[in-house]
Amino acid sequence: KLKAVIFDLDGVLTDTASYHYKGWKRLADELNIPFDEKANENLKGIDRMGSLNKILESSKCIYSYEEKLALCDKKNRYYQEYIKGITEKDLLIGVNKVLIDLKEKEIKIGLASVSKNAFSVVEKLMIVDYFDYIADANKILKGKPDPEIFMTCAEGLGVKIEECLGIEDAAAGVTAIKRAGMIAVGIGNKGILQEADVVLESLEAFDINEMIERFF
Ligand code: G6P
Ligand code: MG
Repeated sequence: KLKAVIFDLDGVLTDTASYHYKGWKRLADELNIPFDEKANENLKGIDRMGSLNKILESSKCIYSYEEKLALCDKKNRYYQEYIKGITEKDLLIGVNKVLIDLKEKEIKIGLASVSKNAFSVVEKLMIVDYFDYIADANKILKGKPDPEIFMTCAEGLGVKIEECLGIEDAAAGVTAIKRAGMIAVGIGNKGILQEADVVLESLEAFDINEMIERFF
């Protein structure tokens, strides 16, 4: 039986994935490191230092841990500048309806984002009250594609793994959901999200009754 839906944030509920990209791109340009949207695809769902390390793979320079921390801080300042003006108008299409449908059906709602800015984004989007559990990115030891954050959410929601459905826009995120043992709904490109049980263009196409019939 479906008892909980666990959402990723960036790229699923709001288009902050593009702001993360903008922040990394600005940093990469300053460091003269090649970086584009295709390379960015591998960063989606990956935590801050993990993302920086992937970008630095294309650099000729060696950076110390302290330097890397400073670069992470810099990207985060850019990112926070970009998300300053987020409001409930920035919810992606279909999100409001899905959240309302889930509440009506008494299906629990969780948030599984490794972003340390997740809570502040969800606050700006004015949807905090919908969530029964929000994973604390500061306490997650292993980022996606490790299943830890989705397992933590299931535990926090008080439901079994097989009672959960996860929704992700990143390949690493879909892998994390599947490794946790949950049904995975991908949002975006079928070619990129191959491991997902079903891929939708956006949450507008998400029908909770159809999901229950198909998978639970
Ligand atoms: C999410 C996004 C990534 C981002 C990561 C860390 O997983 O998909 O693009 O790098 O969160 O976000 P943070 O806000 O902590 O830097
Ligand atoms: Mg995402």
